[in-house]
Amino acid sequence: MNIILFGPPGSGKGTQSAELVKSLGMRQVSTGDLFREAIKNKTAVGVRAKEYMDKGNLVPDGIVLEMVEENLSKSATNFILDGFPRNLEQAAALDALLNRMNISIDKAIFLEVDKKDLIRRLVGRRVCSQCGNVYHVDYKPCRKDSTCDSCGGAVVQRTDDTEEVVVSRLGVYEQYTSPLRDYYKRVGKYNEVNGNRSPHDVFEDIKKLM
Ligand code: AP5
Repeated sequence: MNIILFGPPGSGKGTQSAELVKSLGMRQVSTGDLFREAIKNKTAVGVRAKEYMDKGNLVPDGIVLEMVEENLSKSATNFILDGFPRNLEQAAALDALLNRMNISIDKAIFLEVDKKDLIRRLVGRRVCSQCGNVYHVDYKPCRKDSTCDSCGGAVVQRTDDTEEVVVSRLGVYEQYTSPLRDYYKRVGKYNEVNGNRSPHDVFEDIKKLM
């Protein structure tokens, strides 16, 4: 099954994708992770993307689409698109790409979370700089201060998780990404999950949809 997992920043797309990878052997394609990897490796794409990400803006479509196409051409079965598409233009370009590849998206799953909780989730989020494991200072702290439970790597705050940038990301989401809900309703692929509950309960609902 191929799915799109979408929702506002902090709605739990990365957390739920990690569970889907672990439990159902799916492949996660996260454009945010791909950009962070490119930044870490100081590639030309990474340098370009960082300018936009640091301000909470969307990276230009041309860069995103090229990266997604390259990634999907490696393997395009049983995947989760996490953080892509992010606007109507990207959604149309994805449809055209999948048509050319003769594959399709089965479901677009929207994670609905109250706006007031998103800022708290994002500003308190911490991430392992080595393996990418996601923590939260209140909801899911690491056992040993700033050290990853799994690999012992340094657990840090993402540079775009400051309150100022988070507010900007939420505005960008409202303007460009939230219209995707209607887009996927129109094509009959829209599903909604209440993301205001524990990660476990949210995952159970996603599993039921799969
Ligand atoms: P990206 O990395 O995709 O960020 P995002 O969409 O803003 O989403 P996040 O990763 O911040 O949140 P999430 O929904 O994955 O939540 P998580 O599970 O981590 O993109 C970053 C930037 O890259 C963008 O701003 C843009 O510049 C660029 N970009 C990426 N894709 C692009 C594209 N297609 N086009 C253009 N530009 C693009 O959870 C958050 C926190 O909450 C964690 O601490 C977690 O532990 C906690 N949590 C999770 N679930 C729960 C729960 N149920 N209850 C309580 N806490 C929870």
